[in-house]
Amino acid sequence: MFDLVAGFCHSQILMALVKFDIPAQLLNHDASVTQLAHRAKVPVERMKVLLDGGVALGLLRYRREQYGLSRRGAALAGVPGLQGMIRHHDVLYRDLSDPVAFFRGEVETELADFWPYVFGAGAARDPETARVYSDLMSDSQGLVAADTLSMVDLSGTRRLMDVGGGTGAFLAAVARTYPKIDLHLFDLPAVAPAARHRFDGMQESHRLTITPGSFRDDALPAGADIITLVRVLYDHADDTVMALLKSVFRSLPTGGRLIVSEPMTGNRAGDAYFALYCMAMRTGRARSASEIASLASAAGFDRIVIPRAPRPFVTSVVECVKSS
Ligand SMILES: C[S@@+](CC[C@H](N)C(=O)[O-])C[C@H]1O[C@@H](n2cnc3c(N)ncnc32)[C@H](O)[C@@H]1O
Repeated sequence: MFDLVAGFCHSQILMALVKFDIPAQLLNHDASVTQLAHRAKVPVERMKVLLDGGVALGLLRYRREQYGLSRRGAALAGVPGLQGMIRHHDVLYRDLSDPVAFFRGEVETELADFWPYVFGAGAARDPETARVYSDLMSDSQGLVAADTLSMVDLSGTRRLMDVGGGTGAFLAAVARTYPKIDLHLFDLPAVAPAARHRFDGMQESHRLTITPGSFRDDALPAGADIITLVRVLYDHADDTVMALLKSVFRSLPTGGRLIVSEPMTGNRAGDAYFALYCMAMRTGRARSASEIASLASAAGFDRIVIPRAPRPFVTSVVECVKSS
């Protein structure tokens, strides 16, 4: 119970450690409180409180007057995208600072501005905004791709189209695992060109086709026998999701498959984190695997499979088929 009461302080300790770049500084060398305080421009006695908090949370260790990373702290430093997510959580915490107003829906949340593309293609025309959110997404895509590809078998696929594929990090992982699949990326015009950039130096570059467009306004290109939606549905309201699933259904051939991969509710991370995050974004919502399965079924899909997710806080999968 005490962990729940103190949870906010724990998050702030974590964020301060990340914002002062302490995990990166301690990756190869331990350091004294004085050194870390000096670099962060924080009074020594206050830095000691932060570092001891980090020790208490199991992120740091203290030995012979030096602080170093614990195994957990090393994981924090080593997991791609994790520190980037933590850094931008100050926006989420501000949105949640009055939880009563937040749950009543009375807060004009900042997160809604942080992810502006959710409000439509026109909102994502600014390349700098597009770059910030695309970087955050692609940094964390490594884990999502690894878990997704561990839950589905893509052998025999000719062409896979990743809708809302961002800068192509998922397709790059598919390309490495399946050397014969043709890759197709569909995303907003402000985002899609970065995928070409990612593939430029790669030998798989010739396998990639990019179609810029909005799934709200444009038909999806035909030709893929698998379409993936990775961390796309939770950004959108049910009517947009329904329209997108129907559009995916139309663009697939008979026997084609849809794979949805994103964090889902029905577990601790989904219910006590992603659901609130999506609520703060205001346009979408986190859904359970069975809700996504029902929406897919209403769009015409069947033979729906929900594989066991190895790390539901990273992602879960719903896979289904267009049988006729
Ligand atoms: C949360 S990001 C996920 C990106 C990538 N799939 C991943 O997991 O890293 C959602 C993606 O959907 C794209 N997106 C949002 N609205 C879209 C629309 N109307 N048409 C096409 N793509 C859209 C965004 O540009 C963004 O790349």
